[in-house]
Amino acid sequence: MKFFIDTANLDQIREAQDLGVLDGVTTNPSLMAKEGITGKDNIFKHYRKICDIVDGDVSAEVIATDYDGIIREGEELAELHQQIIVKVPMIKDGIKAIKYFSDKGIKTNCTLVFSAGQALLAAKAGATYVSPFIGRLDDISTDGLNLIAEIRLIYDNYEFETQILAASVRHTMHIIDCAKLGADVMTGPLSSIEGLLKHPLTDIGLAKFLEDYNKGN
Ligand code: G3P
Repeated sequence: MKFFIDTANLDQIREAQDLGVLDGVTTNPSLMAKEGITGKDNIFKHYRKICDIVDGDVSAEVIATDYDGIIREGEELAELHQQIIVKVPMIKDGIKAIKYFSDKGIKTNCTLVFSAGQALLAAKAGATYVSPFIGRLDDISTDGLNLIAEIRLIYDNYEFETQILAASVRHTMHIIDCAKLGADVMTGPLSSIEGLLKHPLTDIGLAKFLEDYNKGN
């Protein structure tokens, strides 16, 4: 399972990279705005900085919602750095653009996916990644994890190569449940990744080991 961090915060990206388990980064316009990064030039510079920190894929989202605009922006983003994955929304022109990018060998992440049908379409168009937003489904009393299970079944039935990128992961249990269901990738905040480290018996056990060691020294 690949671990992506879902942030545009460079300190958090560095921290996750330093842990040695990071496979990539996902961003979106809201995450950029949260860091105060605005305007195309600044946003593009920021993508380059992120690519310099991590070794893996970095999803960069297009703002255009029409076919020509998505193509233009996506090609610009793809030229920025070889690690860039063009993130395209799940809309009609987005699907057409994903097909175009796929034919040209440009990697894509189909975002804002909330149903199995949308995920099927993204795979048919040749998306590299599909991003079902599990946390946002949970927010409206719909089981986000069930969507991961549905997409896994469908993709396995037809051996689609599109990778399931569980997005809108909010906490550590989401990661564990996505891993059980066979999501290829998860993207979440640093706190959700660091939560995997924690167990009180580990802390108690380590304290005891150190205490016993110190008795003999
Ligand atoms: O990767 C998608 C993600 O950024 C959405 O997360 O927490 O805003 O629903 P959230």
